[in-house]
Amino acid sequence: MSDLVVLKLGGSVITDKSTPLSFRGEVMARIGREIARCWPTPLVVVHGGGSYGHPIAKEYSLDTGFREQRQLEGFVKTIQSMRMLNKLVTESLIEVGIGALGMPASLLFITNRDQIETAHLDIIFSSLDLGVIPVTCGDAVFDRSKRFTILSGDSIAVYLAKTLKARRLVFAVDVDGVYHIDRQTGRRTLLESLTYRRHETLLYRDVEDVTGGMFEKVETAFEASRAGVEVVLVNGLVEGRVEEAVKGGKVIGTRLVS
Ligand code: IPE
Repeated sequence: MSDLVVLKLGGSVITDKSTPLSFRGEVMARIGREIARCWPTPLVVVHGGGSYGHPIAKEYSLDTGFREQRQLEGFVKTIQSMRMLNKLVTESLIEVGIGALGMPASLLFITNRDQIETAHLDIIFSSLDLGVIPVTCGDAVFDRSKRFTILSGDSIAVYLAKTLKARRLVFAVDVDGVYHIDRQTGRRTLLESLTYRRHETLLYRDVEDVTGGMFEKVETAFEASRAGVEVVLVNGLVEGRVEEAVKGGKVIGTRLVS
């Protein structure tokens, strides 16, 4: 087990999901400063698509794979848009003095029926070896069976945490963590820790997009937890939580317990 931490920045944290192409520069700059204070923790950053990825992916139904020629426009437009967001995220990190290198997932991964089958990890290893933070993202990628698909940042983060044997995987989301919602009263209580059994019985009420909602995120995250990675979900919109979670301190959020 290395000291590596994988940090997934949710698209709803770094963009405003209600307005297409709206990057939250100030939020990202603040998270950048928090990441800078975690130095020298080896880190891989994965970010989501938010308003740069989901609207186009949905419009062209890219998650279904190739069905008609018209989708190709959506495929390349999504990749272009994610490159733009990846550049903005990487630049924000560089501006606060972090050596960061953007590497969109369309060039790193090939899937087969949505599962990562080929990964150019040598680029990530070389980057980490040099002390440079790899910054990748959810993206439209080639798929051997479906010809293309949408690969979520969550799937990438879990894959990398497991494959690189990370110590910790931090999900920065736009809520404090996973909530128990009372079916009768609707009252919400933040769960500080969550077992898989409990997760299966929970009521998830958030809005889903092409890569799923909170249920899918937690479901995928448990794969890393079962592989021995510490997994925690924290609110990336609240100052200090990303920093504390990356450092492994006590923080408001939800820890997965295998
Ligand atoms: C989605 O990645 C990528 C695209 C739609 C191109 P994520 O599923 O990780 O994005 P967020 O975090 O939900 O926005």
